[in-house]
Amino acid sequence: MDEKVTLVDTVKKEFADQLLTNIGEIVDPKKVDYVVSNHTEPDHSGGLPRIMHKIGESKPVYCSKMGLKNLPLYYREKLNYHPVDNGGTLNIGKRNLHFLETRMLHWPDSMFTYCPEDRILFSSDAFGQHYAGPERFDDEIGEAIMPHAKKYFANILMLYSHLILQLVQKVTEMNLDIHLICPDHGIMWRKEPMKIIQAYVDWSTQEPQKKAVVVYDTMWHSTQKMAESIVAGLIAEGIEARPMHLRSFHRSDIVTEVLDAGALLVGSPTLNNGLYPTVSDFLTYVKGLKPRKKLAAAFGSYGWSGEAVKLINQELEAMKMDIVDGGLKIQFAPDDQALKAAYELGQKIGRTLKQ
Ligand code: FEO
Repeated sequence: MDEKVTLVDTVKKEFADQLLTNIGEIVDPKKVDYVVSNHTEPDHSGGLPRIMHKIGESKPVYCSKMGLKNLPLYYREKLNYHPVDNGGTLNIGKRNLHFLETRMLHWPDSMFTYCPEDRILFSSDAFGQHYAGPERFDDEIGEAIMPHAKKYFANILMLYSHLILQLVQKVTEMNLDIHLICPDHGIMWRKEPMKIIQAYVDWSTQEPQKKAVVVYDTMWHSTQKMAESIVAGLIAEGIEARPMHLRSFHRSDIVTEVLDAGALLVGSPTLNNGLYPTVSDFLTYVKGLKPRKKLAAAFGSYGWSGEAVKLINQELEAMKMDIVDGGLKIQFAPDDQALKAAYELGQKIGRTLKQ
């Protein structure tokens, strides 16, 4: 709120009227002078046409140069877009807004808006969480917010880890005094804004922990038994092992565990000369997120052809994982000897992780 009333980002299309109602508790929406669009993805811009219709379509919408390219491709209405320069400033009265491009974090159009007078960083998707509760601030929810922030990072930002480290360095060099971080998702960080920034550095570094994720699906429980023996072998080596059955855990929860794990083991039965569909789904998803610094191995039961282990290995190689074992194939149901081999595979991965 200043001489020029400014709205930073909107909401999903479905919630535009709710946003207008909320704004109306503070100021008549028609009195909004400027809109800043930090990011084109429709969870933040879907409400833009409706909001502009209500506040006045001739009012300026400030966005990055890539935002200027992308917004009109979503919304065919003629809006009064004003591209801002990286480092550019907009005066809104007693306050100024500084714009900082954060290209590919996580879209080409993404940017931050910083208000030095209030020491507020409007960080768009960064530092967000997919969390909606009664709390508004970090001090109101405490540590319970961190798993949500980690899950958000793992699923949205992991693949841009290298860019995040560069961005944090840049922001550090700019010596921004940050009193409050307002992400577009979840709670705001006012008690310890540096805590979430440090967490982003830690997660981006992806230092492997002594932890292994054993992801699998199973047709007749054979691959499941192999997974259980592998987990037992890992635990015997003192490794924190997470067995994750693909029809018991959503892929986004599995990827959250993969983020700081030192090893990923993937198990699939062979189905019609290929992978089990849930395993294909997971591998496609995790490959896109480009996890780094992982040991890996494949395993699985088969009936007569047995392609699954080879196919998993191809995906693990494509992800540049360090495949420490050629993989373990068992025909039909594992006997004691086969389960011992699975246990030993777990031990082998565990020992390598500890080196
Ligand atoms: Fe990239 Fe919250 O949208």
